[in-house]
Amino acid sequence: MESLKIRDLCKTYIINKRQNNVLKNVNMEIKEGEMVAVMGPSGSGKSTLLYTVSGMDHITAGRVDFFGKDLSSLNAKQMSDLRLDEMGFIFQQMYMLKNLSIYDNIILPAYQSKRGKGRENRKEINDRAKELMHKLGISEIAEHDINEVSGGQLQRACICRSLINNPKMIFADEPTGALNQQNSKEVMKELNRINREGTTVMLVTHDMKVAAKSDRVLYIEDGNIKGEFTLGKYTGKEETRERERKISNWLMEMGF
Ligand SMILES: Nc1ncnc2c1ncn2[C@@H]1O[C@H](COP(=O)(O)OP(=O)(O)OP(=O)(O)O)[C@@H](O)[C@H]1O
Ligand SMILES: [Mg+2]
Repeated sequence: MESLKIRDLCKTYIINKRQNNVLKNVNMEIKEGEMVAVMGPSGSGKSTLLYTVSGMDHITAGRVDFFGKDLSSLNAKQMSDLRLDEMGFIFQQMYMLKNLSIYDNIILPAYQSKRGKGRENRKEINDRAKELMHKLGISEIAEHDINEVSGGQLQRACICRSLINNPKMIFADEPTGALNQQNSKEVMKELNRINREGTTVMLVTHDMKVAAKSDRVLYIEDGNIKGEFTLGKYTGKEETRERERKISNWLMEMGF
């Protein structure tokens, strides 16, 4: 089954009466369980693609199906429930709430969802939050306020939050953008792990090391997908240098 099926997707912004056609008839699919990286020059429409296909932003034309469901058939409440229950988001502007601890930020989406009612469920949510924080190495900052932690720690907290509701699919915009090599590795390890457990992942990245750990890379330029490169599943054990080299050669061919 396809987790995402996108047909003739267009997105136009209008600023000062001038039209900016950011996405121009994009067609693509992501299969269930796939991990797909989107690369391309700055301003080519990568973030816009992520926002529109995940229902964060309206589309101008075309159609987006999420696990067989036409997103345009959903009303606002259905859309927000779908986003809460079935999608996870990792964005650079992270929308973490101030005046809440890291821990509370992480469990909030779970308490807001249907399964957040009842004592048993809440215990389960709290256990999961602790487990996720432990895995990502941020247990010790649970009670910190969001402005009392480093960028890397905040990014990892954001990943915990995106996973708290066991989403079917994760959308990530430069999830390692603010991180050093070591943190970036850990974040990718976690994304690869949840992907192997079945969660579909679509991420935008400038980093070839990150792209090398995906199954497939899409190259977007000027609002259109110009090419794709299939690497196959990353096992987590193999050397990534060879995969990086392949991507780098291919990107060069693409004119990146
Ligand atoms: N909310 C918005 N309103 C108006 N124009 C926008 C909006 N968001 C993006 N754009 C425009 O759409 C184009 C694509 O932007 P987008 O953020 O998708 O690029 P990107 O590929 O993610 O770039 P980067 O690699 O720098 O993050 C740009 O010309 C940008 O100015
Ligand atoms: Mg962007």
